[in-house]
Amino acid sequence: LAPKDYEGKKVVITAGPTIEPIDPVRSITNRSSGKMGYELARELAARGAEVYLISGPTKLKPPFLVKKFFSVESVDEMFKLTLKFFKEADIAIMAAAVSDYKVKNYSNKKIKKSSENLIIELEKNPDILKELGKIKNNTQITVGFAAETNDVIEYANKKLINKNADIIVSNDVSRKDIGFDSNQNEVVLISKDGEKHVEKSSKRDISVAICNYISSKFSK
Ligand code: C5P
Repeated sequence: LAPKDYEGKKVVITAGPTIEPIDPVRSITNRSSGKMGYELARELAARGAEVYLISGPTKLKPPFLVKKFFSVESVDEMFKLTLKFFKEADIAIMAAAVSDYKVKNYSNKKIKKSSENLIIELEKNPDILKELGKIKNNTQITVGFAAETNDVIEYANKKLINKNADIIVSNDVSRKDIGFDSNQNEVVLISKDGEKHVEKSSKRDISVAICNYISSKFSK
């Protein structure tokens, strides 16, 4: 039986990719199956948390115990809902693969093929995790992910500081056997107290390890 260590805790989770429209038929997106975020949502709900899962488009069914599920597309939509629920939340886990940029001038008509080169101007999206890091109080915990292809630990440590996060879950996306669409992952959990390596296992087992790690932080 799962421990009930999250009873009374409200957790906001983002998951999946985002979609930034260019015109009515085209868009910019990020690679993400949403599996890691959904596994975390399932595990946390099973352990008693009230989970708010805010998800970009995925092929997954929302976990059974998650009662508050929101389907979004753009980063702006995801940001708005995340902010709304974070105000009341104890923990935020930002597992979505968020688009760093959005299209500056959305065309409401389909862009026609004409010139050899087409330039689409992009502008920065809000960094949701970073914004939460600015407004959180001293009991709220923020958790981010860092998918990198090189210098994984170094970048994750920078993210921890830059985004004022409590935990960064880092993984190496250059490896074909883990991450992205895979059911397996291997991560390093990073906080100001140091690093904890979680060996290669299913995303379900990884979600258990992440939840244990977070709960060791708030029970301190
Ligand atoms: O900086 P980078 O995008 O690599 O950081 C990844 C972490 O930040 C993830 O937890 C991701 O969900 C979060 N993030 C976010 N909003 C963004 C970009 C990233 O919440 N605009």
